Amino acid sequence: MGRGWWLLLGLCNVAMAAAPGDPARGAAIVANRALSQCVLCHPAPGVPAHLRGDLAPDLAGVGARLNAEQLRLRIVEPQRFNPETIMPAYGRIDGLTRAAPAQRGKPLLDAQQIEDVVAYLATLH
Ligand code: HEC
Repeated sequence: MGRGWWLLLGLCNVAMAAAPGDPARGAAIVANRALSQCVLCHPAPGVPAHLRGDLAPDLAGVGARLNAEQLRLRIVEPQRFNPETIMPAYGRIDGLTRAAPAQRGKPLLDAQQIEDVVAYLATLH
C-alpha cells in the first residue's frame, strides 16, 4: 500500500480508538519533555524559557491558525507539510527504521494522547 493509505488508516485509527480529547491532559503531555518532546523544539504557553527550545514556531495561538483536523494531521505526519521537517511523525508506525526495537510497531503517542494534544492546542487562541 502507498503512503496515502497508511496515513488514512492511521488517522482512522486515531479517530476511532480515542475518546474526545481532554485539553488538561493534552497540556500535561505537551509540557512533559520526556514523554512528548514537543517543548524541546517549540515554545509553548506556561513553559518557562529555560525549559524549552526555539527550533519551531511558538504553539501560542496555534489553535487560531489551524483547525482540529489540521492539528491532528500535523502531529500524526508532519512530513505531509514539509518532507524535510525535523518534527517526528507521532502517529506513524510504518517506516520508522531508526526506532528502538521495543518501540517498533508503536506510535510515539497513542491515539488517545494525540486527541488530548489536539484538544489542548485547539484552545490556544
Ligand atoms: C524535533 C523538533 C520538534 C518536535 C519534537 C516537535 N515539533 Fe512541532 N514543529 C517543528 C518544526 C520545525 C515545525 C515547523 C514546520 C516544519 O518544519 O514542519 C513544527 C510545526 C508544528 C505545528 C504547526 C505550527 C504552526 O504554527 O503552523 C504544530 C501544531 C506542532 N509542530 C505541534 C507539535 C507538537 C504538539 C509536538 C509534540 C507532540 C511537536 N510539535 C513536536 C519541530 C518539532
